[in-house]
Amino acid sequence: MKIIHVSAECYPIAKVGGLADVVGALPKYQNSSKVSSQVIMPFYDNTFTKENLFSAIYEATLNLGDTSHVFRILTLKEKTLDFDVFFVDVPELLYKEYVYSHNDTERFLAFQIATLDWMLSWETVPDIIHCHDHHTGLIPFMLQESYKYEVFRKIPNILTIHNAQYQGWFSHIKVGLIPPFNFDHVGLLDWGSEINPLAAAIKCAWKVTTVSPSYMNELKMAANGLESLLSSESAKCVGILNGIDWNVWNPETDTYIIENYNIKTVASGASANKKYLCDTFNLDFEKPLFAFIGRLVEEKGSDLFPETFKLALEKNNATILLLGSGNKFVENQLDALKNDYIGTYNAFIGYDEKLSHIIYAGADFLLMPSRVEPCGLNQMYALRYGTIPIVRSIGGLKDTVIDISETNGFGICHEDVSVSEIIHAIDRAIALYKEPSKYKKIRTKIMEIDHSWDVSAKEYINLYNSIN
Ligand code: ADP
Ligand code: GLC
Repeated sequence: MKIIHVSAECYPIAKVGGLADVVGALPKYQNSSKVSSQVIMPFYDNTFTKENLFSAIYEATLNLGDTSHVFRILTLKEKTLDFDVFFVDVPELLYKEYVYSHNDTERFLAFQIATLDWMLSWETVPDIIHCHDHHTGLIPFMLQESYKYEVFRKIPNILTIHNAQYQGWFSHIKVGLIPPFNFDHVGLLDWGSEINPLAAAIKCAWKVTTVSPSYMNELKMAANGLESLLSSESAKCVGILNGIDWNVWNPETDTYIIENYNIKTVASGASANKKYLCDTFNLDFEKPLFAFIGRLVEEKGSDLFPETFKLALEKNNATILLLGSGNKFVENQLDALKNDYIGTYNAFIGYDEKLSHIIYAGADFLLMPSRVEPCGLNQMYALRYGTIPIVRSIGGLKDTVIDISETNGFGICHEDVSVSEIIHAIDRAIALYKEPSKYKKIRTKIMEIDHSWDVSAKEYINLYNSIN
C-alpha cells in the first residue's frame, strides 16, 4: 500500500508546532514491508533546506487562475530520513523563511495544485492520499470535482484535523484560482459565505480523523463555526490519538539534553538538567520548577499567564520558566515580568528546539492550561522525561492525563481555564513536591507510560484498509 501524506510541516524539515512532529513520525511507524509511507511538503527557505542538497525530479508549470508559475519537485540527494520526502518548489510563493503568513491562499493553493499536477505524471496512483489540516483541505475537493483530476476520482483520501480553529478561509472572489470544476457544486467549497478549505475537506474527504477521541466529541459542540457540519458528517469521522516519536523523544539518547537518563537514573539525570536551567536562567534550584513551552495564543491560555504567574510568584515557593512566542502583547508582558521576579522567573521569548528538550528533562512540572487542545504532544513528552503535567482536562489532555486523586492517577488536572484554577493546580503540585517519596514514585511511573506511535499508526492503517 502506498500512502502519501500532504502537509505544510514535517519535523525535522519545517516545524511550527505539533503538526510537524506528527508528520515527521507517523510515516516512520507506518513504513513496513507492506506499506510505503511518504510525505510531500513545500520547499521553504530554512536551515534544513540550506544545509541539505536536493535533486529536481520533475518540472512543470502550474496555473493559479490567470497566473502561471514554474514549479519543481525535489528530493533529498542523501536519504537522511526514515521515509521519502518530496518537496514542492514554487520559488516566488513557497520559498520563504516562514511556514505561515497572514495571506497564504495562493501559497497553499499552488502547493496543492503542484502536488496533484505532479501526480498526474505518475505511472501508478497512490492507494491513499492523507491530507493534514486546511492547508491541504482543497485536495479532497479537487480530487472529486476538478475536471483536470478526473483520473483520481477513485483514490481514497483522508483529512486529519489537527486544529479546527484555523480553516484557511478566503473570499469567493478567488474561486477562479481553483482548477475548473462543475460550478453546480461550488457549494461544497462554501461555509458561512466564504470559501472554507477545512469545511470543503470535511465534506469531500472519504474519512475525517482528529488527533484524539475527546477532541472529536468536543468538535460537535465547539469547532469555530463547523459544529453542525461535523455533527452531520460524524459517520465518517473518528478520533485517533497521536503518538510521539519514541526515538527522538528519549531521555536516554536525546543529544539535546545536558545529561541522559532512564527510569533508574532519573533523579540525578533530571536534576542535572534542572541545574543547567537554573544556572542559565538564574532560578532558585531548591524550589519546584514549573515550565510552559508553546505558542502564546489564546488556545493555550497564555493571555492568563502574566496575572497567574504574578500571583504564584508572590508566594515565593516556586520558580517558573517559559519558552514560547506568539501574541506580541503577551510576549511583552511576560518579558517585562522578568524584572519583578529575578531569581524565581524567567522567559525565553522565541523558538528553540534544544532548549525545549532540556526543559522537558529538567522541569518538575509542565503547565498546559489549554482552552483548546486537539491532542497536545507536550504532555506526552513531559511524561516520557519524568516531568509531571498540569493540564486542563480537554481534548487530548483529557485522554492522556489522569489526576493524582484518582486510581492510577499521575498528573494534575483542572476543569476550567481561569487564573484561580491554575493557581489551585500549582498549589496542589507544590504540595505533591513536598512529599518526595510520592513525587518520585509518580515520576518513575509516568516514564513507563507508552505513548509511542505503534498503536495509533496501526489504527490509521486499519482506517486506510477500510476504504481501499
Ligand atoms: P501545537 O501544535 O498546538 O503548538 P503540540 O503540543 O501538539 O501543540 O506541539 C507543540 C510542539 O512544538 C512540541 O514539539 C513543542 O515542544 C514545540 N514547541 C512549541 N513552542 C516551542 C518553542 N517556543 N520552542 C521550541 N519548541 C516549541
Ligand atoms: C495541533 C494541535 C495540537 C496537536 C497537534 C498535532 O497543532 O493544536 O493539540 O497535538 O496539532 O496533532
